[in-house]
Amino acid sequence: VARLFGLNPAPASAARVLELGCGDGGNLLSLAQTLPGARFVGLDAAASAIERGEALAAAAGLENVQLRVGNLEELPEEEWEAFDYVISHGVYSWIPPRARVGLLAGMRRHMAPEGVGYVSYNAYPGSHLRDMARDILGYHVRGIKDPQQKLAAARELMQTIVAIEAPSPYAQVLREHMERMLRYSTALLFHDDLAEVATPFYFHEFIAHANHHQLAFLSEADMFESQMREVPESAGRLMEGLGEDAVAREQYLDFFKNRMFRQTLLCHAEAPVNRELDVGQVERFAVSSQARVQGEQEGSGEPPADSEAIATEQAGEGPPAAGGPPTETFTTPQGFAMSTTEPLVQAAMHALARAWPAAVEFGTLLEEATKAAGAHTQRELVAERLQGVLLQAYLARIVVFQGAQPPLTAQPGEHPRASPLARAQAAVGRPAVSSLLHANVRLEGELENRLFVLLDGTRNREALCAELAEGLSEKQSSALSAAEQPQRDQRAAQVDAALLRFASLGLLQG
Ligand SMILES: C[S@@+](CC[C@H](N)C(=O)[O-])C[C@H]1O[C@@H](n2cnc3c(N)ncnc32)[C@H](O)[C@@H]1O
Repeated sequence: VARLFGLNPAPASAARVLELGCGDGGNLLSLAQTLPGARFVGLDAAASAIERGEALAAAAGLENVQLRVGNLEELPEEEWEAFDYVISHGVYSWIPPRARVGLLAGMRRHMAPEGVGYVSYNAYPGSHLRDMARDILGYHVRGIKDPQQKLAAARELMQTIVAIEAPSPYAQVLREHMERMLRYSTALLFHDDLAEVATPFYFHEFIAHANHHQLAFLSEADMFESQMREVPESAGRLMEGLGEDAVAREQYLDFFKNRMFRQTLLCHAEAPVNRELDVGQVERFAVSSQARVQGEQEGSGEPPADSEAIATEQAGEGPPAAGGPPTETFTTPQGFAMSTTEPLVQAAMHALARAWPAAVEFGTLLEEATKAAGAHTQRELVAERLQGVLLQAYLARIVVFQGAQPPLTAQPGEHPRASPLARAQAAVGRPAVSSLLHANVRLEGELENRLFVLLDGTRNREALCAELAEGLSEKQSSALSAAEQPQRDQRAAQVDAALLRFASLGLLQG
């Protein structure tokens, strides 16, 4: 993102990264396995969380990550090196004012001149709704000490409120919010809505705090969030009237969208941010996409109700002429869609679909696109067009830009090997493991869970099936003796299917 805004941050593959309030290192360990050439330092006040993270890092053999106990209010003054990226996720709104000062002052002090900071926080106006729910639940659980009892009591009250026929528009909105909260994970509910401190900020307030520490607004981390689509013309006029004031524009977007949460990127106040996005930077990225032509996708059909669609169109072109190239619509599993009649764009998108979960270098996409564009089209023009369309697709959540290729394989090898971190997480019974795409992934069912920990690269499929058969649950082994061969074939097919699923989720290295 910083590159698109004209900055020159360190390449991710060799970056120095600091996380403030890293918890048990869930985020840092996952990054550390994906970027073995980068170095990571995490700090958190909770010694038990740091211990858990250290044990996991040791079990996964991660040597590029260091976790330490420390308080944001007492960050070292000088002793630390400069970090290229300073991250703080799920912390800023949940700590007292003094610690918030420590966080931003520390970010400024320990961030390299071309560095990028990330801070997430609860935002107004959307969080007024959250505050309403928090106040109600806070009152209800006020005398309860035990966390489990607290959660149970909060859930019970929410179920009661959700079941009441709402007599007023406000009550209706609260009811819908609580319906969503009932689907939250225990950790999220506990951390967000039952926490003692949870202070939301208007975006402009947060930026004023950051400015006070000589930090400036760079961008929202997910640039999709800063796009205006499907808003009335008057909103467009209002935004135009704000001119160059990026902070005010973002603030109005929060009003339009009723934002509840933000993930904001900061840079040094002196950094030369250019708000005209530098489309030429696109060729420095590897690109990946999970989008498929509609109809090819598993379980595809109608895109989800909240999906958005963009269409690519060359400047000066009208809608496709009758008898012209057919339109193809590429849709992601989340329902984001892009329609195009341009053969060069179609060729690039198909190349991305074939490569998933791996990323494709821009140069390779350009080869495909140039072939599809035909001999009469100059390569420079194709490159320019491809850069523009990929940027548009990135802003619409259809493609992802990667600063470095994740070390994963799209096809399970002869001796399948899962990432050591994910195996270590599965071995200690974590409900979700970290993929090499930096996502949390749930393993499904007994077979996947038992298979996954065996994937250390020493077993071929036959050995995997044999070992799985040895420790089958009673129910399954009695079925096996009744019809052994077909059961064995079925088991091999299940192992193959699970390995392919693991690969497509970015869990395999070999
Ligand atoms: C919800 S957790 C977020 C952890 C991690 N960043 C994540 O996204 O999973 C908030 C973390 O902030 C830490 N924290 C709170 N106050 C702190 C302080 N004053 N100094 C250092 N860490 C603090 C807590 O111990 C906790 O681990």
